[in-house]
Parts: sequence; structure tokens; C-alpha cells
Amino acid sequence: MQAESFKAPKTDGVYVGEATWKAPSNIALVKYWGKRDGQIPANPSVSFTLEKCATTTTMGFAKKQGTSDTFSFDFLFESRPKDAFRPKIQTFFERILPYCPYIQQHHFTIDSANSFPHSSGIASSASGMAALALNIMSLEKALIPEITDDHFYQKASFLARLGSGSACRSVRGNLVTWGATAHIGGSSDLFGIPYPFPVHEVFQTYQDTVLLVHKGQKAVSSTVGHGLMHGHPYAESRFAQAHHNLDALQSIFASGDLTAFIALVESEALTLHAMMMASSPYFILMQPQTLEIINRIWAFRKETGIPACFTLDAGANVHLLYPEANRSSVIQFIQDELVAYCENGQYICDNVGNGAQRI
Ligand code: DP6
Repeated sequence: MQAESFKAPKTDGVYVGEATWKAPSNIALVKYWGKRDGQIPANPSVSFTLEKCATTTTMGFAKKQGTSDTFSFDFLFESRPKDAFRPKIQTFFERILPYCPYIQQHHFTIDSANSFPHSSGIASSASGMAALALNIMSLEKALIPEITDDHFYQKASFLARLGSGSACRSVRGNLVTWGATAHIGGSSDLFGIPYPFPVHEVFQTYQDTVLLVHKGQKAVSSTVGHGLMHGHPYAESRFAQAHHNLDALQSIFASGDLTAFIALVESEALTLHAMMMASSPYFILMQPQTLEIINRIWAFRKETGIPACFTLDAGANVHLLYPEANRSSVIQFIQDELVAYCENGQYICDNVGNGAQRI
């Protein structure tokens, strides 16, 4: 599919109304790290959609006053004006304009809130951009009622990607893959799709407890980190490895082989951070507590045989992944051994969810 097919026809119509979408965060198992112009990923990725970590955004649509070419919007975070977020939304509107010409006829009132604690260090760009994109699609649907559900969600993911790459995996499905790969029919660099192969029941209710190690601003943003994959000495082998790992996951997802799952997922997390450490300039996003937690998880797994493992995103927090059946033992382990390494003892219990919902 070509980007051209997501261009909405020009319409002079204005829709006055409102929509609200709740979009979840997601945690990648095979990581997206490196991109080309136009938010095209350097390699395919796959993620668990989360359930509780989510952004809920209400968007009011009104007729724009005047005829300027700029965008007209108010942005509220938890019902209060938040100017710091305006540049990101401005950039989002600029990027989606060729596909959504109707946004220039509208004034938007955007009110957004996260389910997770403010400044928890959890990336809200995936859930935030997905919620924005879905609201824009509700506007498009009001203007062009004949668009199909498939087009609605595919284009929502396409638009979310233009806001933040990983956001395209926060629209639909409990396991979502993004990035063109020969072995997954229908896969695309332009949008995420629900993972199309069989997935063992153990993964349908997988748990993700996010251990909040560091809540401050990251030293290096994901966008800068992606950029450092250009000319990176290990880039090509990393991209090939991501393809290989995505292929290997097919039989792991089908069989529920947790030993193989753990080996692949932890390797992906450490490889992501190894890429950061081998960038020029190099950087480290893990904190001493991140490594303490990883070592504790390894010791716990060895002692108990419980298949708990970790993954990391582009930050110091640790996502502890485990089957629902092991929940009580793992929570006890967290309380006994891991909370000491969490900032203010904070962690968030989440699990695999089913994608965004219109509220
Ligand atoms: C490490 O999607 O935040 O979480 O496209 O520049 O907004 P931009 O980057 P972003 O990168 C996420 C990187 C990651 C891995 C992943 O989610 O696949």
C-alpha cells in the first residue's frame, strides 16, 4: 500500500462536534530503533499492547475563524493549558496535513490525560499520538461517512506513526507488528497491523509490571537516538537481527515456549541499549538501579524457575514480563526485592490489552 492511498479528498465541510478516544501504551518485544525520512522504520518491530497505561483525549471540533494557513488549536493537559506540548502537536498537524486537508478548516480543543502518574518517566508519546490520530479519524469519518472500519484504523495507525513511530502500534490488537517484512503478509512500514499468526494463550494475558527507576527527563530523546543509527557501525547487522528475531517469534508465539521467548526478549532489550552505548556520541540511559533489578530478576528466575524476564524501552525503567499464573509470586518478589530500586518505591502493574477504545 502507498502513502497516497491515505490522502483524504479535499472537502469544504466543517464538522462541529467532539470525540473522545482512550489509547494504550505499548511495550516492544522486537525493538524499533533507527528510521528513515518520513518516519519509516529501519526494521520491523512487534509489541504487546498494554491495558492500563493509556492516554484519554477529547477533541472538540469547531469552525476556524479567519482563513490563515496556520493550525488553530488549544491544548489542555488534565484540563489546564499546557504550552510545553504545543510544538509536538504543531509538528503532528504539519505532517498529517497532506493526508487530512480538512484540519485547516477546523479549530481544535484538545484535552488529554494520562492514566499513569504524571512524569512517571513512562513514554506517553505512543498513547498520546495514537489518541490524537484516532480523534482526527473520527473527524474524517464525520466528514466522509463512507470510509470503512479497516481504512479508519489503518489510517489512524498511519497518522499516529507520523506523530511518533511506536504510536502506530497503539491502535488495534493485543500484539501488533509494524514494518514491512517478507514473512508477514500485509505488514507495512506505514502502519501497524494486528499480529496475524497464532498466539498461545499464555501471551494473551501476559503481565507487565513497570518498575519506575527514574522519573526525570531522559538525557537523550528517542528521536535523537534513532538518528544516531545513521552511520552506526553495527546498524546493518542490528537491522538484520531484528528481522531474524521477528521470524523466530512466530513459532515461539504459537508454542508458548517461554524459555525461547525470554532469551529473545532480553537480548532485544540489551541490544537496544548496546546500540546506544556504541553510538557516536555514545550515551547510557540505564541507571545503576536498572542493572540491580536485572540481576535480581535473573537470580529470581534461577532460584524459582518462574519465567519472569525483563525488557527496556529507551530509558532506565524496567518492564518485568511474566505469565498471569505467576502473578502472586512475582508481586511478592517485587515487594521484597525490587521496590527498593524504584524511585519512591513506585511501580505500575499492567497487562496485555486489546487496543484503543472510543469513549
Ligand atoms: C526504544 O516511537 O518514541 O521504545 O518515532 O522518534 O517518536 P519516534 O520514536 P519512538 O521510539 C521508540 C523506541 C523504543 C522501541 C520501540 O518502541 O519499538
